[in-house]
Amino acid sequence: MLSALPARAIAGARRVLEIGGGIGALQAELLLRGAGTGEVIELLGVYEPYARRLAERLGIADRTTFRVADVIDAPEQAEAADIVLMNRVVCCSADGVRLTEVAADLARGALVLSHPRYLRVLRWAARFQEPLARLFRRRYRFYIHPRTAIHRAASSTGMSLFATWHGAFWEYSVFTRPGWGGNSALHTSDGANPIGARHVDLGGRPL
Ligand SMILES: C[S@@+](CC[C@H](N)C(=O)[O-])C[C@H]1O[C@@H](n2cnc3c(N)ncnc32)[C@H](O)[C@@H]1O
Repeated sequence: MLSALPARAIAGARRVLEIGGGIGALQAELLLRGAGTGEVIELLGVYEPYARRLAERLGIADRTTFRVADVIDAPEQAEAADIVLMNRVVCCSADGVRLTEVAADLARGALVLSHPRYLRVLRWAARFQEPLARLFRRRYRFYIHPRTAIHRAASSTGMSLFATWHGAFWEYSVFTRPGWGGNSALHTSDGANPIGARHVDLGGRPL
């Protein structure tokens, strides 16, 4: 989904923010492609040593930071960035739509986000996870939010849809501020789904 961003706009980005970024693989990829500095904001501090190790391995440790915070409860702890990334995070929160609005508010140029499609089969799975989660004592829950609500939340901050893509179960969208990246064309595509894959290619090819 990063390949939807114009290369010139990535190189011109002074700051990248990855919300719910885990080890921060996507912001790392943008730093490798020429963005200035990056930050990962995570609910879970357990990711921090792994994020640091990844940054050291890629030679970007002096350009990236990790912060533990809840972006919904404490949005003031997050600083705005030229590019805001949110991969597979909207579906981890019952407040995923609100999270999208907060993320879009923080984006000076572009918001790149992925989420599961609003499919009946996924909504059923979300409904039936509750008894299973209780049975196996799992705290994790996923939520399927309507695409229209997610898009409305991003657009409510003055952003417009720049690119969108979907596979069998996942979709991503790129929202931009007017004039950002020097391109206002809307790109849409169908095809195989790279977003759901756990594997992240840090070699510089499109994710
Ligand atoms: C499914 S993981 C995805 C991690 C990473 N983006 C990836 O694709 O590998 C979702 C992450 O979002 C984080 N998260 C969920 N809600 C958040 C919030 N309100 N503020 C910060 N992080 C959040 C969770 O802690 C979790 O690590």
